[in-house]
Amino acid sequence: MANEFTNVDAEQLKHCWTQRRLSRDPLDLSGVWRYREILPFIDYRQHTPITLREGNTPLLEAPHAATYAGLERVEFKHQGYNPTASFKDNGMTVGVTKAAALGMKRVACVSTGNTSASMAAYAAAAGMQAIIFIPHGNIAYGKLAQALEYGAVTLQIKANFDQILSLVRQVAERLKIYLLNSINPFRIEGQKTIAVELLDQRAWKVPDWIVVPGGNLGNISALGKALRELRALGMIENCPRLVVVQAECSAPFEELFTRGIGALKPVEKPETLATAIRIGDPVSWPKALQEVTDSTGVVEKVTEQEIADAKAIIGRCGIGCEPASAATLAGIRRLVEKGTISKKEDVVAILTGHVLKDPDFVHGYHTTGLRAPNGEFINSRFGNKPVVMPNDVEEIEAFLRQSTR
Ligand code: F0G
Repeated sequence: MANEFTNVDAEQLKHCWTQRRLSRDPLDLSGVWRYREILPFIDYRQHTPITLREGNTPLLEAPHAATYAGLERVEFKHQGYNPTASFKDNGMTVGVTKAAALGMKRVACVSTGNTSASMAAYAAAAGMQAIIFIPHGNIAYGKLAQALEYGAVTLQIKANFDQILSLVRQVAERLKIYLLNSINPFRIEGQKTIAVELLDQRAWKVPDWIVVPGGNLGNISALGKALRELRALGMIENCPRLVVVQAECSAPFEELFTRGIGALKPVEKPETLATAIRIGDPVSWPKALQEVTDSTGVVEKVTEQEIADAKAIIGRCGIGCEPASAATLAGIRRLVEKGTISKKEDVVAILTGHVLKDPDFVHGYHTTGLRAPNGEFINSRFGNKPVVMPNDVEEIEAFLRQSTR
């Protein structure tokens, strides 16, 4: 398709993207469609994108988190500020727009929760029926609530994510329903804009490292693709090193990376309280491996305790995120300890989802009632228990006088 910027140089394109921030056009107000030159497969004269003003997520400094990880400074690109509160919206606006352009009336996905919440919202906005498949009992409450509220047909299947994925493929094929799983190429294209917006916000200064949590590995694939394209366009001169962090008992990609040879060996029964990344057989591993390796990056794994503590620290920065997102900070801490990342390096972590996605986890941790999948209690090192007080001014005053924090 004709691309109005095919022959435009990098500086002009950067200037154009900056100028669009002053515009009131819905496409320019979107932190995805503002960068439409890297999404050249939609004919904008014929199809109006389905947008909910996704993207536009902040890059936040977090000194307390930096100290915790052993760094001088760290930045969080917080994708939880999206319309459905996760990074999935960047890809979903493009996936649903493409489905609409193809004349589809029904869309489906399997999800650990965020993809389904996002697809439900965008399908509703487009007037399509959303059909979502989720693992019964293993999805955070906030995410399930969103799917219901946005009107999706919600099927809770008694199987894990990997098993449901093959089921959904068959159902979609038989009923000719458009599949919006993370292997959908248009969703990956949309997710590229996370990296583009991040660099735009940093005035195109490339960090030394970008760190993401890894589940199905679509996000790392999109990130790597975006960086390669930006480099080819002359927007950046070098690429950052990429890090994927997995939860210890759902870490087939980390195992493969450490082994250094062969194919991914699926984890039969993946487990983690970070349910978003409870995936044992990630479909996008070949692409992900290529991207991480080409960037001279690394793959790390972290324990349930490390995820929970890192999450509480991100909360104490006034930022907050869901468990999977906190795997980034836990991973950075490990890599600093190992000497892989050095104290002075410029590190950006992508926080993939909002703190309110999983309120049960938050409540459990702070009230010392959180158990890891192996049954052991998580130690609430940074817990903050609510205090029950009588309706008595004196007692409350006495309590607050001795409370220093
Ligand atoms: N963080 C969050 C909050 C997620 O929801 C996911 C994936 C990931 C990280 C991992 O990203 O799969 O691209 O490596 N959630 C998917 C879902 C699987 O169905 O919502 P990935």
